[in-house]
Amino acid sequence: PTHVKSICCIGAGYVGGPTCSVIALKCPHIKVTIVDINPVRIAAWNSDVLPVYEPGLDEVVRECRGRNLFFSTDVDAAIKEADLIFVSVNTPTKTSGVGKGFAADLHYVEASTRRIASVATSSKIIVEKSTVPCRTAASMRTILESNSTFAADGTQISFQILSNPEFLAEGTAIRDLFAPDRVLIGSLDTQQGKAAANALSEVYENWVDRSKVYQTGLWSSELSKLAANALLAQRISSINSLAAICEATGANVDEVAHACGLDGRIGNKFLKASVGFGGSCFQKDILNLVYLSESLGLKEVSDYWHQVIKMNEYSKERFARKVVSTLFNTITFKKIAVLGFAFKKDTGDTREAAAITLCKYFRQERAFIAIYDPKVTTNQIMLDLTEPGVVDDAEAVRKQVRIATSMQDACDDAEAVIICTEWDEFKNASKQEWEAIYKAMKKPSFLFDGRGIVDTKMLREVGFKVHAVGKGPVIVDPVWA
Ligand code: NAI
Repeated sequence: PTHVKSICCIGAGYVGGPTCSVIALKCPHIKVTIVDINPVRIAAWNSDVLPVYEPGLDEVVRECRGRNLFFSTDVDAAIKEADLIFVSVNTPTKTSGVGKGFAADLHYVEASTRRIASVATSSKIIVEKSTVPCRTAASMRTILESNSTFAADGTQISFQILSNPEFLAEGTAIRDLFAPDRVLIGSLDTQQGKAAANALSEVYENWVDRSKVYQTGLWSSELSKLAANALLAQRISSINSLAAICEATGANVDEVAHACGLDGRIGNKFLKASVGFGGSCFQKDILNLVYLSESLGLKEVSDYWHQVIKMNEYSKERFARKVVSTLFNTITFKKIAVLGFAFKKDTGDTREAAAITLCKYFRQERAFIAIYDPKVTTNQIMLDLTEPGVVDDAEAVRKQVRIATSMQDACDDAEAVIICTEWDEFKNASKQEWEAIYKAMKKPSFLFDGRGIVDTKMLREVGFKVHAVGKGPVIVDPVWA
């Protein structure tokens, strides 16, 4: 079809939900149906408490739901009706088999593709929205072409495949979708391929300037998504490696980042030192790139990108060790307050969150942990801290971990506060609030800022012994003054 009238999105997750809700908002003339095999998720999308927390998302869904936006578990009906289908299902790292620990698990993508092939009764544009390894579109095409049938009128139905990776960042998804830096559309270099790319471009052009739509070949588009995430994560690992040097020398990583960022070629974004990055994408996509390079016989390339992940692991480990060594080399039976459990602020998503790694480390050291996060549910935290398949682990977690209802509650009687997420609530806490927290803590009271968000000078005035990533050594006296 030259003009898209009906869209189906397979996968109602962090990407499919917000992305297609925004399409529905901006294109009132297009019917958008978001489907998922998970009935609990769909029920939540149809309720007042959406399954994904994103600033601004509630308003978007409220405006379009029931108008031209629908959430359903009837995958087949939505496939049949649509002329354009987004495949926005999860592509996690494989946990077993060939490529275990590195390669992307593509079975959800394949299952969706096969579903489309078996139920479609008219020609469709299939859009790969999930992040996938290079050349996945080719596999999808083979599956679709070998299964394509005839429409009721006897004509053979055809499928055009596009790659349209999503660049939104969780926490700012709605803002990113409203004003994307670019919309990338990859297609085959054929007349039909180009026509399909133009049809998708037209959907975006309802609110995105045409100059921001960049059309490429399929493989470039697929690889660009992996490349973009690898380059972003590389900046974080780079600044975190420098943070380690700063701590050993007394340099201040914020000053170093600022000084470097003033160079227009480097730029000042994404140079914030921290305990390490989290989120469902960076690690998974880089491991995917590592696996891809290795499969192509490019060992040096693969080693190069793998180091970005290793540096991130090292950052988390180094931070955890700093906590233990600063607390006189033992945290056994000590109370530790963990502020923030989401992988970043303004999301309830905890996938690969640094807090999970730190809490597991503290648990092994047999500390008691009190966790406070403004958005993450108790259930989710307990799930994240329980090792799958370990009998009685849930019970052990419950004995060691308490979910607090506020910053103050988490810090009550604690020996150390660990800031794991850069929530504004922690960043903007007043001196009075910190004084009240300090008062309720054991002395000496330690604070470890894993996100570089608190005013270290003010907190030292309050009485805290402060460690901030990349800001000088901890134990040297003047720093404690
Ligand atoms: P998610 O896990 O939140 O959502 C995926 C959904 O797909 C789940 O609800 C699952 O039940 C559903 N699903 C799986 N197989 C299905 C099938 N056969 N039929 C119908 N529904 C099915 O994942 P998320 O975070 O939305 O990610 C989706 C893709 O987008 C991934 O490839 C990810 O790498 C990519 N991506 C994610 C970003 C993020 O910020 N989370 C950003 C950019 C890309």
